[in-house]
Amino acid sequence: MSTQTGQLERPKPAGRLHERVESLGVPLVWVEPEGAVAPLGECRWLERVVIASQPFAAAVRQAWPALSAGSSEAVPIWPGLWLVPMPTERRRRASSDRFQSRLMAALLTAPEFLDSDQFRLVCSAQQLDAQAARSRVDPAALYTDAEVRRLAHTLVWMQQDSMEIARRNGELQSMSRQLGDSYEELSLLYKLSTGMTVNQPPAQYLTEACRELQEVGGFRWMALQLVDDPDRLHKLTGSVFASGPVGCEGDALRQIGRQLMTQVGDNTGPRIIDDTTTVGIPELPALSRQLLVVPLVREHKFFGVLIGGDKLDDTHISSVDAKLCNSLAIGLTIFLENAMLYEDMQAMFMGTLHALTNSIDAKDSYTHGHSERVALVSRQLARAAGLPEETCERVYISALVHDVGKIGVPEAVLTKPGHLTSEEFALIKMHPEIGAHILRDIRQMQDLIPGVLYHHERWSGGGYPTGVAGEQIPLFGRLICLADSFDAMSSNRTYRQALTLEQVLHEIRRCAGTQFDPVLAELFVKLDFTEFFKMIEHHQSIAAGHAQQRGNTP
Ligand SMILES: [Fe+2]
Repeated sequence: MSTQTGQLERPKPAGRLHERVESLGVPLVWVEPEGAVAPLGECRWLERVVIASQPFAAAVRQAWPALSAGSSEAVPIWPGLWLVPMPTERRRRASSDRFQSRLMAALLTAPEFLDSDQFRLVCSAQQLDAQAARSRVDPAALYTDAEVRRLAHTLVWMQQDSMEIARRNGELQSMSRQLGDSYEELSLLYKLSTGMTVNQPPAQYLTEACRELQEVGGFRWMALQLVDDPDRLHKLTGSVFASGPVGCEGDALRQIGRQLMTQVGDNTGPRIIDDTTTVGIPELPALSRQLLVVPLVREHKFFGVLIGGDKLDDTHISSVDAKLCNSLAIGLTIFLENAMLYEDMQAMFMGTLHALTNSIDAKDSYTHGHSERVALVSRQLARAAGLPEETCERVYISALVHDVGKIGVPEAVLTKPGHLTSEEFALIKMHPEIGAHILRDIRQMQDLIPGVLYHHERWSGGGYPTGVAGEQIPLFGRLICLADSFDAMSSNRTYRQALTLEQVLHEIRRCAGTQFDPVLAELFVKLDFTEFFKMIEHHQSIAAGHAQQRGNTP
């Protein structure tokens, strides 16, 4: 994330500047406020003698205010001798908590210095004969006054350029960091928005969103608390999702989330809590020092809050963090709204299908609940066959409507007690095709048609309506055929009593490979039918109630 203060780091000197100055033959020295001077790299004899002397140290100490003023001008120390401060970074001295500076400077000497009293003073302090010392120095190797001025200017320009480069480098680094942060934020929002498919289980999506936001936002933990509103949020009402070591979970976390929701209300934007001890929730400080609370609101409807606890790098939660979380919160709110609408539509769709099939089954008290039971067992068998869950749900719906074509068969034939004539049976045999015809024009139900059309085919061929055999019979048809026959044998019919489970399973084994797909039949006999028999009991009691009502009707 971005720096919290928004300030750029102090520019560092361009290291190559010093190398360039040295390569020009200009001696560089470290200068300290107390007057200590040390050569940096190679130095000529004259500079070494000057640097090592006490009088020079005293003069430098005196000139320190001018040297450290930051003007980058050549500072005259003695006649014919200057120090030109160079840019350098501030360093912390181990002996002090205060920041102090030591400077890098260019030491420039002109021939004039060799005639000065200070040169003689230096020689005396270093126990050198001034005359002899003077003769060791080649005046031509020194700078003239004019050269010193030009060099000082050149050095100043070099310094300014170097500082400008360092400043721009700093800006570039800062922009790169911000760009990197923005990229991560955009990636997160993109990833989460593309993952917002309503057929994904909402709880799974919300858990994933919490984890991603915790990771990208750099929070120690992240939680999402939803409001208590079963009408709007259905199964998700009051749910809490979390990622990272929150420090509490389940009801305890939910309790804290509810209190935070009360505090942020439903009309506020993101709120950064700098000190959780001030919030008035006793359990909160143990979980986090700082908090970010972002309400999930859309068109005055309050869905819940996103809660981010402490930054992993111990920085303060910033407005940038709040902005990122708020962007995600908007996306999550839209997702929740769509997911709930989708669930409503699904519930309405399934409710309509159940009502339709119940009305068909109800024509005959003996087939009451038949479609629901066939759907239940078909889905169980599909799962046992290892089909993906989404396909198993489609098998369920296909089985639920497998007899929808009976709507086109006269009720007198459907409910006729005893044996049917061949004409009547021909009418009954039309129901798979009538059903397929009914579903033909419903785009969302195209994949269900094979289950409807082929559920009366036989593995060995000769079933109806097409007579196809083996694997030419679509899988949905083979699955529903088993469940349909199982329910027919397990429930009372006009012409016989229900068989026992043992008898039914024996019959299924016997007909494996002739009536039924042998592989599916093998899986079928191993299913758990507890739920099925509970359903039969339930349906029988309803049918008995209806029969009684009819009996009481005058
Ligand atoms: Fe049927």
